Amino acid sequence: MTGAFHTRITDLFGIRLPVVASGLQWLSTADYVAAAAHAGIIGFITAASFPELDDLRAEIRRCRELTDGKPFGVNISMLPKLAKGDRVDAVVDLVCAEGVRFVETAGRNPEPYLPRLHAAGIKVLHKVPTVRHARSAQTAGVDAITVVGAECGGHPGTELIGTMVQAALAARDITIPLIAAGGIATGAQLVAALALGADGVAIGTRFLVAEEIRAHSDYKARLVAAQETDTTLVMSSLRNTVRALRNETTETVQKIERELGGDLEALMPHIAGRVGRRAYETGDARFGVLSVGQSVAFADRVEPLATIVKRLEEEACTAMTRIASLTPVSSATRFG
Ligand SMILES: Cc1cc2nc3c(=O)[nH]c(=O)nc-3n(C[C@H](O)[C@H](O)[C@H](O)COP(=O)(O)O)c2cc1C
Repeated sequence: MTGAFHTRITDLFGIRLPVVASGLQWLSTADYVAAAAHAGIIGFITAASFPELDDLRAEIRRCRELTDGKPFGVNISMLPKLAKGDRVDAVVDLVCAEGVRFVETAGRNPEPYLPRLHAAGIKVLHKVPTVRHARSAQTAGVDAITVVGAECGGHPGTELIGTMVQAALAARDITIPLIAAGGIATGAQLVAALALGADGVAIGTRFLVAEEIRAHSDYKARLVAAQETDTTLVMSSLRNTVRALRNETTETVQKIERELGGDLEALMPHIAGRVGRRAYETGDARFGVLSVGQSVAFADRVEPLATIVKRLEEEACTAMTRIASLTPVSSATRFG
């Protein structure tokens, strides 16, 4: 596929803009993912949002209808907390059987699942929080890598390296298609990522205020009002750091972590996924560990995803023009 921003990522996914709408637990439903497809980018349904495999299967089928043959994928998060024997195996079987073409993995190394996924013709985009993990995933044979920096919503890893450093370092070592993520929300940032050596960007937080995200309008209004200083880190004591919207729950969790360390029993009533899920349903964003990144500062109104993506593309074109206008001044001119 050709376009103003033709890269190895647009080729890999068959999309117009090198932008990935990464998996969002409870929120990246078929409607959102289809909106991404129609906007010329690729989105991922999050398998973890569907405790019942039959519901995941139905959502994939619904997405296929809504996307009209345009590309979409499924996010398979394999967080460390999941013990051996979790349902990743069953989800892998399901996506293979359903003819899904793209999978975004995150968390553990996806190496054990690659033979099955590749045999089914599925391209695997693996998401990592450090360059070290990126190198291992490349060696393991994934098809593309997303490296997320500390600014991101959700899991920034434990080392908290910012996106600017992380993406530039990754570009030195990673030879397969590379995506930068963490705090990216504007077209100028997309151009910056391409300049750093990435082939595209992944976005979570900026898209949370898309109309197609199925969440209460009060929750989205809270995000629209939020600034870059309104997120915080929790759950580092469990070595499962999450960047989330600062609220009553994050204060409570941080207090428990200070006083009791990673006491899972004390933390669980606050960090359980169902608490966050309730906030999306009721709009009461005071409670729940609600994954949100620093780029929430750019989420300034609720509008269709296509409008957000269109603006991002226009901003990227403007940034390219600006860069092109910075023609080198010869030293003779500069110094008279
Ligand atoms: C609300 C929310 C839920 C998320 N859920 C998941 C998830 O289930 N699996 C996953 O791999 N990443 C998840 N992420 C991380 C995103 O896929 C993406 O890596 C991240 O948002 C990119 O950084 P940004 O938020 O700065 O754009 C989530 C992020 C947010 C904001």
